[in-house]
Amino acid sequence: MIDRWALPRVVAHRCGGALAPENTLAGLRVAAALGCRGVEFDVQASADGEAVVIHDARVDRTTDRCGTVAMLTAAQLAACDAGVRHHPAFAGERIPRLGEVAALCRTLGLVANVELKCETDEGSALAHAVVPQVVACWRGASALPLVSSFSEAALAVAADIAEFLPRALLVEAVPSDWRGRLSRLGCIALHCHVSALDEALVRQVREAGYRLAAYTENDPVRAARWLAGGVDALFTDRPELLLGTEPAAVVASP
Ligand code: G3P
Ligand code: MG
Repeated sequence: MIDRWALPRVVAHRCGGALAPENTLAGLRVAAALGCRGVEFDVQASADGEAVVIHDARVDRTTDRCGTVAMLTAAQLAACDAGVRHHPAFAGERIPRLGEVAALCRTLGLVANVELKCETDEGSALAHAVVPQVVACWRGASALPLVSSFSEAALAVAADIAEFLPRALLVEAVPSDWRGRLSRLGCIALHCHVSALDEALVRQVREAGYRLAAYTENDPVRAARWLAGGVDALFTDRPELLLGTEPAAVVASP
């Protein structure tokens, strides 16, 4: 069940973590330049059905425009500046289409975690719109992306459309029936908030044959302990701090 897991241990959150505007091509370039081989990003559908990479339901926080992602066309979204709010040096960065992100991941050799992002109960519609584009974007790739979501409806549709795509269930707190949920959805991994991690959970998930990843860990000492303790991957806003940490060295220190 775990042989389709390809995520590296350190995964840059929202493309490049805090070092670049979130969910942008610039973030992918930063991650790659650091030697970070794994990237996570959030995917939604535009009003005209294009898969676009952005976290919030609205563009207001991360761009120079206002509006709801699902009510804007891909062209309107592409006109938003997704870099300047992070820093003027990134002015001109765009909300990327999934195709652009996938192409750059493949060029840079980045393993992707595609999060199907919906804050409502529209997960089924989101997956119907986006998953075929995920399949097309990574056709023939050496490493398939890992598809994750907080929406079990989205994961169920992803399984129907593309069973071969590895999937992970995202949760904040870990529900007591996590085994049943993973099994029902055909997921290979559980992704939880770092505050939900404990040694018993790590042991139980591993014994059940699943992978375990957690978001968002920015402290290299804690990260090294979790990775040494059996957590398979950590999403981080500070990949430059977590990369190169040696779990054995940290475990051996007082
Ligand atoms: O996929 C892990 C993490 O990205 C989930 O939280 O809100 O940053 O998408 P969020
Ligand atoms: Mg995410």
